[in-house]
Amino acid sequence: MIPVITIDGPSGTGKGTIMSLVAERLGWHSLDSGALYRVLGVAARRRGVALEDAEALVPIAETLSVRFSAGRVYLDESDVSTEIRTEEAGMCASKVAAHPRVRAALLDWQRRMVREPGLVADGRDMGTVVFPGAPLKIFLDASPEVRAERRYKQLKEKGLDANLAQLVVDIRERDERDRNRPVAPLRPAEDAVFVDSTSMSVAEVLDRVLEEVRR
Ligand code: CDP
Repeated sequence: MIPVITIDGPSGTGKGTIMSLVAERLGWHSLDSGALYRVLGVAARRRGVALEDAEALVPIAETLSVRFSAGRVYLDESDVSTEIRTEEAGMCASKVAAHPRVRAALLDWQRRMVREPGLVADGRDMGTVVFPGAPLKIFLDASPEVRAERRYKQLKEKGLDANLAQLVVDIRERDERDRNRPVAPLRPAEDAVFVDSTSMSVAEVLDRVLEEVRR
């Protein structure tokens, strides 16, 4: 079996950064499943489909033409890398991700990303739903305030709009929706290793995860 490492957790914990670094260290493939939901949100908006309309979203999810290449993300071959990173796109992603049938439509796509020599996947339900048999599952968390600060810095670095007080509100709203939805709610898998990164640097979290990989 091709090995998978899952990294789940709420917004702003640094999952994406850690996922990329672990994949790079191991020479494995990576899957940013949040980007997939973000692209779906953008695709729905482009087609004028309401984010609440599961019926209309399912066929869009089933035929979504998304491609990850050299750190860029493409929708229908147009580069949406910057567009999907705004807080608004994150909120849209969280809305489309709340529909069970939309999630089901994206399952196969995600599982097809498993390739030799291995995959590091980050998201909300990688360890619980998409790759329940993964030999190593990490659940990364941090206090909401620290997560908002990290997201603020990240958005500023990308030249995107950011307001710290609004980010705390948005992060709480998104967490609430992600934790309380009927399918694939955000929660650690029973066999996940819990890492609280509130007072840890990226290097410390990376070391902690690599320590688990070596076990
Ligand atoms: O970067 P951040 O953690 O803020 O968000 P993301 O990982 O890009 O995910 C954006 C949104 O997509 C989340 O708030 C979730 O609602 C949804 N998502 C999900 O439901 N399941 C996943 N496996 C990944 C993301």
